[in-house]
Amino acid sequence: MNKNIAVIRGDGIGPEIVNEAIKVLDVIAQKYGHTFKYTDADMGGCAIDKYGDPLPQSELDKCLAADSVLLGAVGGPKWDSVPGNMRPEKGLLRIRAGMGVYSNNRPAKIWPQLASASPLKPEIVEKGIDFIIVRELIGGIYFGEHRTFGDGEKVSEDVMRYSESEIERIGRIGFETARKRRKKLCSVEKSNVLDTSRLWKSVIHRLAGEYPDVELSDMLVDNCAMQIVKDPSQFDVIVTENMFGDILSDEASMITGSIGMIPSSSLGATSNGLYEPIHGSAPDIAGQDIANPIGTILSAAMMLRYSFDMSQEADDIEAAVGAFLSKGYRTRDIMSGGEGLKPAKCSEAGNLIAAEIKANK
Ligand code: IPM
Ligand code: MG
Repeated sequence: MNKNIAVIRGDGIGPEIVNEAIKVLDVIAQKYGHTFKYTDADMGGCAIDKYGDPLPQSELDKCLAADSVLLGAVGGPKWDSVPGNMRPEKGLLRIRAGMGVYSNNRPAKIWPQLASASPLKPEIVEKGIDFIIVRELIGGIYFGEHRTFGDGEKVSEDVMRYSESEIERIGRIGFETARKRRKKLCSVEKSNVLDTSRLWKSVIHRLAGEYPDVELSDMLVDNCAMQIVKDPSQFDVIVTENMFGDILSDEASMITGSIGMIPSSSLGATSNGLYEPIHGSAPDIAGQDIANPIGTILSAAMMLRYSFDMSQEADDIEAAVGAFLSKGYRTRDIMSGGEGLKPAKCSEAGNLIAAEIKANK
């Protein structure tokens, strides 16, 4: 198959981790007879420096024209003082909205090889950690009106708004995702305080009638934050709004060992998806070749699986990551625990994982 992939390297460690994912994609293309063509697009701080805009229309257009988009990370202290609507992160929000990718899928699954890197007690980890957070990505407080006003004392507000149809389309993704797994859906909100959450809950319950095979539960977001560390084995699929999903997915990643391991997919009405690790640009370690590229490599695998219908190729990448870990290789963030572990730099990790794919028949 021929596929055109828009590549946004971004800032900080973004270019390093994306390079490793491309190494892996190139080996896959060779092995399975595909052609992947890469089109670079600028977004984030580097786009502010180049064009004075974190996502110029020309760059968004490249992404819209592609079959899918692979993204590293954006942001850094260099752009901390630019106004809110021109921050690097605004580029990220604009590409998500511009591509219409309302459904963000963030798996929290522990690799058995990394069990000792989890901060949870072994008896909790042994019960299993394998759930998915389905996060609404282009609505809610991230996209409501933001303003600061007042002559003397300043006052700020950020508006959180959800319509029934926005809740319904992400709710359906939650139910469909659960249907393909262990058939348990937990809807997370703050309906004891927020109107948006009460609407959320009522729409999700209305939908439940169409999915009688899925067991639905409700959980308040503060309780969910607690349950994720107390007993993560209870979760299969969590569906939640944008900001709650942002916060809970960082927490969920940490219990699996490292945020550096977690990929994500974002999809909307078409197969053109946005694939990115859930971590940020880590400016403090940029340029040192010590970042963990696995979250990005696994994001590339998700792209193959969900946008290109190449599940065998995706399985191959995931197996290669498993083999890399089983042989004891570790980037710095997952080094803790266990005897005889071998340190691997970012570029070495990419080379070793690519070599596993070549060797794997
Ligand atoms: C994420 C990030 C982004 C978000 C930031 C960088 C805007 O934290 O993808 O989780 O809040 O969505
Ligand atoms: Mg986040």
